[in-house]
Amino acid sequence: MTIFHFLLPILLFHGFQCAALDAAGNDQFAFSGFHGADLNLDGTATVTPEGLLELTNGSVQLKGHAFFPDPFRLRRLPGGAVQSFSASFVFGILTTYPNLSCHGITFVVAPSKNFSTALAAQYMGLANFDNNGNTSNHIFAAEIDTMQNIEFEDIDNNHVGVDINGLRSMQSHTAGYYGNGENESFQSMSLISGDVMRAWVDYDEELAQIDVTIAPIHMSKPTRPLVSATYNLSVVITEQAYIGFSSATGPINSRHYILGWSFGINRPAPAIDIANLPKLPRLGSKPRSKVQEILTPVAIATFLLTLGLVAVLLVRKRLRYAELREDWEAEFGPHRFSYKDLFHATNGFNDKHLLGVGGFGRVYKGVLRTSKLEVAAKRVSHESRQGMKEFVAEVVSIGHIRHRNLVQLLGYCRRKGELLLVYAYMPNGSLDKYLHYEGEKPVLNWAHRSQIMKGIASGLLYLHEKWEKVVIHRDVKASNVLLDEEMNGRLGDFGLSRLYDHGTDPQTTHMVGTMGYMAPELVRTGKASPLTDVFAFGTFLPRF
Ligand SMILES: Nc1ncnc2c1ncn2[C@@H]1O[C@H](COP(=O)(O)OP(=O)(O)O)[C@@H](O)[C@H]1O
Ligand SMILES: *[C@@H]1O[C@H](CO)[C@@H](O)[C@H](O)[C@H]1NC(C)=O
Ligand SMILES: *[C@@H]1O[C@H](CO)[C@@H](O)[C@H](O)[C@H]1NC(C)=O
Ligand SMILES: *[C@@H]1O[C@H](CO)[C@@H](O)[C@H](O)[C@H]1NC(C)=O
Ligand SMILES: *[C@@H]1O[C@H](CO)[C@@H](O)[C@H](O)[C@H]1NC(C)=O
Ligand SMILES: *[C@@H]1O[C@H](CO)[C@@H](O)[C@H](O)[C@H]1NC(C)=O
Ligand SMILES: *[C@@H]1O[C@H](CO)[C@@H](O)[C@H](O)[C@H]1NC(C)=O
Repeated sequence: MTIFHFLLPILLFHGFQCAALDAAGNDQFAFSGFHGADLNLDGTATVTPEGLLELTNGSVQLKGHAFFPDPFRLRRLPGGAVQSFSASFVFGILTTYPNLSCHGITFVVAPSKNFSTALAAQYMGLANFDNNGNTSNHIFAAEIDTMQNIEFEDIDNNHVGVDINGLRSMQSHTAGYYGNGENESFQSMSLISGDVMRAWVDYDEELAQIDVTIAPIHMSKPTRPLVSATYNLSVVITEQAYIGFSSATGPINSRHYILGWSFGINRPAPAIDIANLPKLPRLGSKPRSKVQEILTPVAIATFLLTLGLVAVLLVRKRLRYAELREDWEAEFGPHRFSYKDLFHATNGFNDKHLLGVGGFGRVYKGVLRTSKLEVAAKRVSHESRQGMKEFVAEVVSIGHIRHRNLVQLLGYCRRKGELLLVYAYMPNGSLDKYLHYEGEKPVLNWAHRSQIMKGIASGLLYLHEKWEKVVIHRDVKASNVLLDEEMNGRLGDFGLSRLYDHGTDPQTTHMVGTMGYMAPELVRTGKASPLTDVFAFGTFLPRF
């Protein structure tokens, strides 16, 4: 037993240790997200608040690097062979255009972290025009390249390659993977799909074999690597080597992200916690599925159409029920009907509810929804707003008149160019229908007729003398005599001369009354009085 025999295991042990560890004594590491990770970053590289390692940030013609801070001793002994190692990382590339991106990401093993002289764009931050391919670079890299550079003999714009000392790959393959198990055929992948993917870089010391494999994030590692190259890295990698990433953009703005990263010497790369990786931001450049492509515009169109329809309906509803309301009307509140109520009461002023058409407008039968009260609503077109206040005051005042031989005016409603007068409904209609009866024997016997006549006389007397103001009817005639459910005569349409004075009907503007019923002085002077009403009543009697 010599001292050598005694020391050899210790030396070997220490040599092994030194070769396998980084300066801090690590022979493996794993990052699942980069929150608080101790990395050396330069150029555009940053760790985002979400914990993504952003190698390029969307600015053009820039490069970024990220390195594990301490160098690793990958060689067995000083001058010995480079040992097996495995790296794995999760990456994503986001682009502004759906099918264009530049340039890519490389996983690097290099003698230095200082890439200040390297170029961006196709050099991917690894080399420059002068030193590309120079054996004194001592760089090993696995490239994920989204551009086809003829000068480097790139096979296409979507490939993975093995690089020694420069960007001209010694071995490369279109991005994709070979399936595991049943279907072992090649499945291609688009590096710029915006999908998160995973890559593995493995070096086997025994076989001097470099394997690079990629797969969709949720797939386990394919057994067959995508790229497999035989190259003794012992002639490339230096005693101390830094490992990390280099990435660069060219003229097209793209973002290169690393979401997780692990590395191991003489062992498989440690597991990355896929479930807890930070999320890749969405730039809206991810190609949408066919279903989405069809459904999204349809959904948007449907939404806009619905919105438009709702708006139209709302506007129509507002217009349909729109009323004119002024401050001074507040005091007449109780006499005011809402147009909406009248609209519903008459089924939208349906012709089926039309009771008759008079000189000033159409009269509809309606049933008020809340009170179930039967009413007759008269629509009078009325453009003038002048004198409206006085008129409404009169309507309201007349509304206070209650007599068993007068049709009660219940209230009013105003709209643009239109006035609605609401009367108590007279179920037996107007007297003229009974008088101009043709054919079979009349339904009104003499007892009825005299009862009606006395009633009208009594109603007219009330208007002229019994009520607090003198109200002149102005238009006593058979069609203004209505019959209630007990066949009592009731005088309707009274006292609204002012409305008619301001009415728009040119024939009647200054001439209220019906020819044949008008007293001679009324025709002459146009001035109505109780006496002219009495004249009309007198004319009306013999026609009975
Ligand atoms: N309160 C009411 N109840 C029932 N029917 C009515 C009522 N008011 C009016 N009518 C019907 O509507 C028709 C037209 O009424 P109106 O406009 O007052 O006629 P005019 O202008 O010829 O006096 C009348 O002939 C009558 O049949
Ligand atoms: C990207 O990073 C560079 C260098 O740090 C900076 O000058 C540039 O403004 C950044 N661009 C964006 C879009 O953040
Ligand atoms: C690789 O090179 C190293 C040193 O040059 C040598 O020791 C080793 O045997 C080589 N490996 C293979 C697999 O040829
Ligand atoms: C990108 O897509 C557009 C339209 O889809 C096509 O015209 C263009 O040639 C494509 N460019 C590349 C580099 O594939
Ligand atoms: C990187 O290298 C360049 C030139 O080789 C040198 O000027 C620079 O100081 C170096 N930077 C660092 C941080 O060592
Ligand atoms: C490679 O780089 C070294 C050191 O920078 C230099 O001396 C040598 O001339 C370069 N070789 C070639 C072929 O450019
Ligand atoms: C394997 O997958 C490819 C691509 O999806 C498909 O074209 C092929 O038919 C599959 N083969 C088998 C045997 O399933």
